Amino acid sequence: MNHDAIPTLYQLFATTPKAMEGILANEIEALGGKNVQQKMAGVAFQGDLAMAYKACLWSRTTSRIPLLLSSFEVKSQQDLYDGIQCIDWSEHLNADDSLAVSFSSKNNPAINNTHFGAQKVKDAIVDQMRARFNERPRVDTERPSIRINVYLHNDTAQLSLDLSGESSHKRGYREIGIAAPIKENLAAAILLRAGWTKIAQQGGSLLDPMCGSGTLLVEGALIAGDIAPGLQRDYFGFLGWKQHNTALWQTVLDDAQQRREIGLSQLPVIVGFDQDRHTVAAALQHIENAGLSGKIHIEKRDIADASAAESWPKGLIVCNPPYGERLGDEEQAAVLYLQFGEALKRRFTGWQVAMIIGNPELGFRLGIRSQKPITLFNGALECKLLRFTIDEKSF
Ligand SMILES: C[S@@+](CC[C@H](N)C(=O)[O-])C[C@H]1O[C@@H](n2cnc3c(N)ncnc32)[C@H](O)[C@@H]1O
Repeated sequence: MNHDAIPTLYQLFATTPKAMEGILANEIEALGGKNVQQKMAGVAFQGDLAMAYKACLWSRTTSRIPLLLSSFEVKSQQDLYDGIQCIDWSEHLNADDSLAVSFSSKNNPAINNTHFGAQKVKDAIVDQMRARFNERPRVDTERPSIRINVYLHNDTAQLSLDLSGESSHKRGYREIGIAAPIKENLAAAILLRAGWTKIAQQGGSLLDPMCGSGTLLVEGALIAGDIAPGLQRDYFGFLGWKQHNTALWQTVLDDAQQRREIGLSQLPVIVGFDQDRHTVAAALQHIENAGLSGKIHIEKRDIADASAAESWPKGLIVCNPPYGERLGDEEQAAVLYLQFGEALKRRFTGWQVAMIIGNPELGFRLGIRSQKPITLFNGALECKLLRFTIDEKSF
């Protein structure tokens, strides 16, 4: 059995939806991650505690950040129990703290029931603590002091501590559900892939003419304003961890707060339209929740009437239009894409466009040639990100 002690340079892994690994790797490198390696649905990297905190607070495209505690061989149920007990759990939590365990298994005949696996891991931790302190940590699946992940693949178990605690796409500003919203980390990936960071730095505007609940606009403002996406979250997986360093975390937070204040005063024009009144109300609420009231303009407007005010500098049109997925919707969607194409050609010369579509056939209805599409996944659905500049030569 091979157990690695916790190094000062932690072994970290940032998870992300499939096809977003490249953009996440760029983010982690920019944040100072060492030995950054793209893996399937994630990025492995090394970093000290400050780097781990920054990744949790600043990564826009990650879902979770587990910190590897150990890896060991598992050929039997007892191996799993023993492997977990090799860790000194008193270094990670107190006997009166709480914990949650998530377990997944692939190709391991000894343990293929995830519920049983999670139970075994919890027993190993609880038994060790009870034997030493005569008291045992309780289980809290919602917001535990620490959340443990065990990933069993073939004969190897990877044991990690979930630093995120809750999926990092939950920034805390979205509360009203509308039909077909996109996740915040996918929205950020679309904007980063579309070159929004640079367009915003050059003073370009951002317009989402079918903005729904405003996810792309809020994420766009966070990017343009140099605002950490995790700044409003009140829970992270490391806050109840025994090795959490409150003073260090506070310096990371203070720095983010300062950058936010400077960024907020320099935001470019950010505008959204949607045809639906309730959706417009949801977008306005989310903008307020994100602390961006007055910084993003929203209007109830149909795509056929989309236009830019003269005072708005040309910039990026970003959009997640309806996919026309359901039976009978396709014809309606075809008309919508046709109208969208017409509006773009007539009134947005010189603007750049990035749109995520679920049905490439509908993309042709725009009547504008795009660059090579980029594959992204909206949940399980494979989508294409189309990017083009509105220029007569590409009509
Ligand atoms: C897939 S949703 C966008 C979701 C958004 N990205 C979010 O995360 O909340 C598509 C939006 O397009 C809007 N829409 C559909 N047809 C429209 C039209 N003709 N003009 C303007 N908006 C339209 C719908 O009301 C809906 O909110």
